Amino acid sequence: MAALVRKAVFPVGGLGTRFLPATKALPKEMLPIVDKPLIHYAVDEARAAGIEEFIFVTGKGKSAIEDHFDHASDLDAMLRSRGKAEAADELNSWVPAPGKVAYTRQQEPLGLGHAVWCARHFIGDEPFAVLLPDDIFLADVPCLKQMVDAYSGRGGMVAAETITGPDISNYGVLDVAKDQGSVVSVRGLVEKPSPADAPSDLAVVGRYIMTPKVFEYLDRKETGAGGEIQLTDALSWLAVEEEFAGIRIDGERFDCGTQAGYLRANVAFALQRDDLRDGLKSYIRTLDLGA
Ligand code: UTP
Repeated sequence: MAALVRKAVFPVGGLGTRFLPATKALPKEMLPIVDKPLIHYAVDEARAAGIEEFIFVTGKGKSAIEDHFDHASDLDAMLRSRGKAEAADELNSWVPAPGKVAYTRQQEPLGLGHAVWCARHFIGDEPFAVLLPDDIFLADVPCLKQMVDAYSGRGGMVAAETITGPDISNYGVLDVAKDQGSVVSVRGLVEKPSPADAPSDLAVVGRYIMTPKVFEYLDRKETGAGGEIQLTDALSWLAVEEEFAGIRIDGERFDCGTQAGYLRANVAFALQRDDLRDGLKSYIRTLDLGA
């Protein structure tokens, strides 16, 4: 049986202003967690969920992402000539097969909804996933796989996380119709509400499944919070048109769009590595961490 969700969109057209000056010449999505770029984690996660086609919505200054997912024949030859065939094979092992990766360009970063709309001609008539590379997860079952496993094949679904306190205003927030435990049914979403206006404490984190019906709304190019074309507004419309669910993700999420989240992710992912764990732990033990 063919997988229910075969295509994934990776919006990578944003400016990454919160990481300047690092992102002046380097795409934010290429910042490494330990030694692997953020976008690479998102692509690995998509593949683990059964995604077969990878669609990147890029922008000005993002060509390093295309190069990263392409064969590098010079590097390959150089590694082999130096007896590092294993490293060369590893580098080739995750490059998407020809015709399975597509790039389209968002000429101006008008918002996440606009970025997804730019991918519309690649989608056809089937549900698709959207992964924001800023959010990465440490989870036994990768985040998108948890979603695909719970997805009925109809309507939309978002990854959700409980956020307490004023930070809820940094997120799209779910208006919950019925809470069924790990999955909730959703009647609407609100982008960046004030804490008093937040319809719940369940926030959307950077993984989505949606149907191409979303393009009917995005075609209108309506702007929302911050003057941007918001994906949250399109999904809120979709939640009225179709069944729509949120799923509480089992695992730890790191918001690598902020410096604090990015640093935490580097420590947490390094501690997962057999070659780094002991050295890092010994270093941390030498630190005077105060109270
Ligand atoms: P963010 O809003 O976190 O990224 O979007 P940003 O705008 O690049 O970062 P800051 O706020 O200026 O630091 C999350 C994801 O959506 C993409 C970004 O590239 C990022 O991967 N995005 C955002 C687009 O592709 N296009 C947009 O217009 C906006």
